Amino acid sequence: MKPMINVAIDGPVGAGKSTIARECAKRLGYIYVDTGALYRAVGLFCRRNNIEIAQENAAEIEKAINSGLSLEIKLENGTQLVFMNGENVSEEIRLPEISMAASAVSAIGCVRKFLLSTQRRVAEENNVIMDGRDIGTVILPDAQVKIFITAKPEIRAKRRYDELIAKGIDAKFEDVLNDLNTRDYNDSHRAEAPLKQAEDAILLDTSEFDFEQSVRAVINLIEKGQ
Ligand code: DC
Repeated sequence: MKPMINVAIDGPVGAGKSTIARECAKRLGYIYVDTGALYRAVGLFCRRNNIEIAQENAAEIEKAINSGLSLEIKLENGTQLVFMNGENVSEEIRLPEISMAASAVSAIGCVRKFLLSTQRRVAEENNVIMDGRDIGTVILPDAQVKIFITAKPEIRAKRRYDELIAKGIDAKFEDVLNDLNTRDYNDSHRAEAPLKQAEDAILLDTSEFDFEQSVRAVINLIEKGQ
């Protein structure tokens, strides 16, 4: 069987990874996989079940997810939906408090292990553009194309803020910027699969790009790289 095309996109919070990757996947006919949604769903699961998200509590988290959590990714008209034990939680996982829970839960080794096979399976079976923090380094080390997308923190915070407001979620710019800096720090300083650029990834800074320019830059890199 012909190997599938795997495109790994990593980068910090609000770099535009998901909107850019989704659009590129649509234009290329690939499947877009947003792996952050899986960590968000685990964060939501812990919060709903009053499970403390802390390294010291890793044993309880491991037991709870292995015995009581089933996650599924479904595609509906090209949009990824996440189902937690059969319930569509795609909207709820976008709330700001779930962002923090996701970042905290993603530092716990058993959670990363739990989600590894779900991510690899979809990449084995489909041409994918997958975005996250450790896709090029850990999940798909053999991806044909690896891109690390970033932008200046203030620009990323402004984009995230605009997104929340557009969805009708109440937010303050300073809070969004603080959350973003805290999450970036946590995500890049954790022991397990920290956020970092893979050695063979191409760095793309979109600070000066609008959406269309970013999409074209990524498609260019994909077409050159595969
Ligand atoms: O991309 P996002 O903001 O939806 O991700 C939520 C959190 O999940 C983020 O703070 C870090 C974590 N994450 C991760 O550790 N590894 C991934 N592949 C994707 C997300």
